[in-house]
Amino acid sequence: MEAPHHQHPAPAPQAPHGDDRAPETPAHGGTRQEVTVTVPTAEGMRALGVRLAGLLRAGDLVMLTGELGAGKTTLTRGLGEGLGVRGAVTSPTFVIARVHPSLTDGPPLVHVDAYRLGGGLEEMEDLDLDVSLPESVVVVEWGEGKVEELTEDRLRVLISRTIGAEAGAAEDARAAAGDEAGAAEDVRTVTLVGVGERWAGEDLASSV
Ligand SMILES: Nc1ncnc2c1ncn2[C@@H]1O[C@H](COP(=O)(O)OP(=O)(O)OP(=O)(O)O)[C@@H](O)[C@H]1O
Ligand SMILES: [Mg+2]
Repeated sequence: MEAPHHQHPAPAPQAPHGDDRAPETPAHGGTRQEVTVTVPTAEGMRALGVRLAGLLRAGDLVMLTGELGAGKTTLTRGLGEGLGVRGAVTSPTFVIARVHPSLTDGPPLVHVDAYRLGGGLEEMEDLDLDVSLPESVVVVEWGEGKVEELTEDRLRVLISRTIGAEAGAAEDARAAAGDEAGAAEDVRTVTLVGVGERWAGEDLASSV
């Protein structure tokens, strides 16, 4: 059995609909879609990143939301792998942003950890990244309220630790997949929200 895909909104804690966790209602009328998937292991999170990378192109902004240790960097590692960029994606301790050039002729991956980015976008522009953001895929951890001005379109990725009945279902999925390495506390719920025209025509569900 494969991990269940929920087309309907997730339960309240994860639901990005209409609450103040998702203030940016699209300006252009309902061009917003979302899909939720259960990710039982860290390896599954990396693999999800690889698949999502197939959707990404220059100019895209991906915003990762989730508590400390949720798996944002793990997902980004998969994005980097899928995009075919140079250098290991890590959690930067002393740098706010790191540029990973493409190993082919694709866009570079700009990985931003905005946790300590107090001033938001202006500060980011001061980073002297040596690449043009519209020609890059920009992935931001902890970017809420800081980098939205970059573009109206964005792919939001909300990662949460699964609780209650969902954890049980995910555990079943993990066991059915023969994965003995994981544990119930490893299970994550990932909700993808495509905001804006850019994402209106993309089939997010087919990539999760
Ligand atoms: N299902 C899962 N998905 C992602 N990571 C998982 C999962 N299960 C366990 N893990 C582990 O949880 C940790 C996630 O760390 P990661 O650095 O990716 O989180 P983060 O959200 O980037 O944290 P931070 O907010 O500190 O940047 C890793 O050690 C990873 O192996
Ligand atoms: Mg991180």
